Amino acid sequence: MSKLWGGRFTKQTNTLVEEYTASIGFDKQLAEEDIQGSLAHVTMLGKCGILPQEDVETIKAGLNKVLDRIREGSVDFSVSDEDIHMNIEKNLIAEVGPVGGKLHTGRSRNDQVATDMHLYLRNRVVALTGMLHEVQAALLGQARENLDTIIPGYTHLQRAQPILFAHHLMAYVSMFQRDVDRLIDSYKRINLLPLGAGALAGTTFPIDRHFVAEQLGFDGVYENSLDAVSDRDFILEFLSHASIIMMHLSRLSEELVLWSSTEFNFIELDDAFCTGSSIMPQKKNPDVPELVRGKTGRVYGNLMGLLTVLKSLPLAYNKDMQEDKEGMFDTVATLEGALQLFAPMIATMKVNKGRMREAVNTDFSNATDIADFLVGKGMPFRQAHEVIGKTVLYCIQNNKYLLDLSIEEFKQFSELFDDSIYHVLQPETVVNARNVYGGTAEPQVQAAIGRAEQTLSAT
Ligand code: ARG
Repeated sequence: MSKLWGGRFTKQTNTLVEEYTASIGFDKQLAEEDIQGSLAHVTMLGKCGILPQEDVETIKAGLNKVLDRIREGSVDFSVSDEDIHMNIEKNLIAEVGPVGGKLHTGRSRNDQVATDMHLYLRNRVVALTGMLHEVQAALLGQARENLDTIIPGYTHLQRAQPILFAHHLMAYVSMFQRDVDRLIDSYKRINLLPLGAGALAGTTFPIDRHFVAEQLGFDGVYENSLDAVSDRDFILEFLSHASIIMMHLSRLSEELVLWSSTEFNFIELDDAFCTGSSIMPQKKNPDVPELVRGKTGRVYGNLMGLLTVLKSLPLAYNKDMQEDKEGMFDTVATLEGALQLFAPMIATMKVNKGRMREAVNTDFSNATDIADFLVGKGMPFRQAHEVIGKTVLYCIQNNKYLLDLSIEEFKQFSELFDDSIYHVLQPETVVNARNVYGGTAEPQVQAAIGRAEQTLSAT
């Protein structure tokens, strides 16, 4: 089969080389964007008087026909046409005849492929922002339901201070908000047009890049033609942001896995989001969060892969850069898969409030508050810390919790104790005592939920 670039060659391409260098197997995902870009390009060629209007109309009609055929699945992409760009051009020429060969006037595959990827990623970033919002909405829903649910808060995975379960969930809402903000910020670097850079130096034709940018909804054009065709920062940035999102999902996954264990028993994931064991009939496994945690690895890998591909690449385009696509597609699919499952999985999870309460009642996470109580009575904090340390040790040795101690027992450790200590030690008192902006007291968490809901409805 003849190549679009065959003129200079006297031999057929080795078939292994064809297979090795082809990208059609994966860049066919860019078909819609490729045709969108070509339609804008050819319209501009007509407007600038580079092609007669009649040819422009023929090419546009042909491109739309090819698009319809691709959509209905009746186009056979061929490895000998290497990539999506040349496959579409071949199909166009087959459709409209030699005039189709005029489409590539003033353009190179180098600025074409970059344009396709900017169009592709721009759409994905918008979609992903929406999916993150869905996860945030599910977390907010659970937070609202759990404004009176207290759990032990942990540091070092040791019980530290009691907190509202809603407050814990809202930490993730904040994390995902930063993710949304990062994606939105990256949009201004994604939404730039490389087309018109030609192979690397620009083009001899009197094209109008700004017109193409406007037609495609880009906010601007690349300043420098070499940069336009060599830049993959926008993909790296996306892969970095995706890695951070996966890291957040993976941390939440780890907590969901822990919380659904018999040892914690804080939550139960809905049956629809769990799987069973082929041998142990009693098992209900949290496969989804486990797999999200596991798939975080490939998303990090895709970032490291592209960073390494780009390292030391001389300007401008090099074939190495074709390696930018599979990792990007894989990251998009992995991220979308995770986010789409997370929203309903969070929304349907059952919170075991009774078990959480039991955990809070059987720990020492209110110890900081008795230390603070003694400080309130005038004792220096260091000394109070020591006194409560001894009180806790006494409790452990006598198989008691702080609330089990009689006032006489308390007074053995300090004369400053009085009956009000029993109120101070209640988990509700402990939680609501942290009434600072961003703290776990119920009014603060309520306000945080309100602010987050507002942000969510504003974007
Ligand atoms: N398939 C190629 C890629 O994805 C398109 C650009 C090819 N340009 C070239 N000069 N060979 O990078």
